[in-house]
Amino acid sequence: MTPTYPPEPFRIKVTEPIRLIPREAREAALKEAGYNLFLMKAEDIFIDLLTDSGTGAMSQEQWAALMRGDESYAGARSFHRLKSAVDDIFGFKHFVPTHQGRAAENILAACLVKPGQYVPSNMHFDTTDANIRARGGRPVNLVIDEAHDPGNRHPFKGNMDIAKLRAFIEKVGVKNIPLGMVTVTNNAGGGQPVSMENLKAIAKVYREYGIPFFIDAARYAENCYFIKQREPGYENKSVKEIAREMFALADGMCMSAKKDAIVNIGGLLCVNDETLFQNVKNELILREGFPTYGGLAGRDLDAMAVGLYEGLDEDYLAYRLGQTAYLASRLTEAGIPTIQPAGGHGVYVNAGAVFPHIPNYEFPAQALAVELYREGGIRGVEIGSVMFAYLDPETNEWHYPKLELLRLAIPRRTYTQSHLDYVADTLAKIKSRAASVRGYKFTYAPELLRHFTARFEPL
Ligand code: F0G
Repeated sequence: MTPTYPPEPFRIKVTEPIRLIPREAREAALKEAGYNLFLMKAEDIFIDLLTDSGTGAMSQEQWAALMRGDESYAGARSFHRLKSAVDDIFGFKHFVPTHQGRAAENILAACLVKPGQYVPSNMHFDTTDANIRARGGRPVNLVIDEAHDPGNRHPFKGNMDIAKLRAFIEKVGVKNIPLGMVTVTNNAGGGQPVSMENLKAIAKVYREYGIPFFIDAARYAENCYFIKQREPGYENKSVKEIAREMFALADGMCMSAKKDAIVNIGGLLCVNDETLFQNVKNELILREGFPTYGGLAGRDLDAMAVGLYEGLDEDYLAYRLGQTAYLASRLTEAGIPTIQPAGGHGVYVNAGAVFPHIPNYEFPAQALAVELYREGGIRGVEIGSVMFAYLDPETNEWHYPKLELLRLAIPRRTYTQSHLDYVADTLAKIKSRAASVRGYKFTYAPELLRHFTARFEPL
């Protein structure tokens, strides 16, 4: 039975028009963009589920906070308001703002990763993966096997496989692992949460080997709400208490504030270690800006300070996770295979199963992304071989990800039930003509992060 759609815990005060352009215009727009939805004009998109990153609606309190922005170069009041929120919620000794999550990742990788070294995680997301590779390092994904089985309803499918982690450290040696990570929620694996029990076990292993432990905290609040809903012993703790417990396990974190801090731009890098903090600041000054603004305007820091608390609000989180669960079950009813259970920030359609006749090297999830736009003006994002297949420098062989997914990311506080119903109905139409859909080939592809700029041709 479809869960009821939760009433939004807000009402709408400002609107932004969207429109569905005619079918021929959509076809022309696709061709012009080389069948890459990143290269389309946003005004040609009707419902944009490309990402939940920086696409949420800010609240009246956040817009009011923008007016209080202090644009002083150093020591701005805005920085101190942000610092008080960051200290209160995360509890690390030091932090710097960055312009977004990948800037924090770049600084961390610049300070810690040397060529040939490995960085384990449950699963790295694309920018983290690429920032490690860009320093000559090797990202390693050690998520539990259940994560690769779309139908398995494990409540914490983002968990790391602790036995694999131990075996991996023993195999490559501690000196080749400058830091260890975990991503909460696990975006690349379906927005699936990591349990507190697993986080404790990860922290224990890293600590035992003396490996600094960093959390990629982009969607930490959603992860903490899943812990509250699903993990025994946490049902009566507040999400903020759960967050404090989670971050107390780590030596630092990097975070894209464009997700759970509900801002359009911003990021954070927190560390406990003094020497590392010095190095972080030097790197930040070189690439981002002075440590009290880190590449952001003062007003952005203020919007983040307010958004961090709004992202932890439990009425909001119940609505948010209820919304993705609703879309996932509408798709299940229509016979469209998705990763189960629904993730926190989006629904991941198993495109490989929708188009079993399209092999991974012809990009089935890209084909589904194109069809979704063609049919209904909807933009999702491929999380499959376009994004993650890579040529192993040692064996010269292509490695393909285990799943070919189309992610429908839900921007925060932005779309309503009727929008999601329209998305489900459009996918159902595509499913009825699935056998006639063909794959794609590259006409251009860069080496790193190729999904952003690649161009395709239909086969
Ligand atoms: N870590 C995770 C888990 C992410 O999902 C992202 C971004 C980043 C780091 C990088 O943050 O964009 O602020 O530089 N994910 C976006 C997405 C782009 O669509 O999932 P950023």
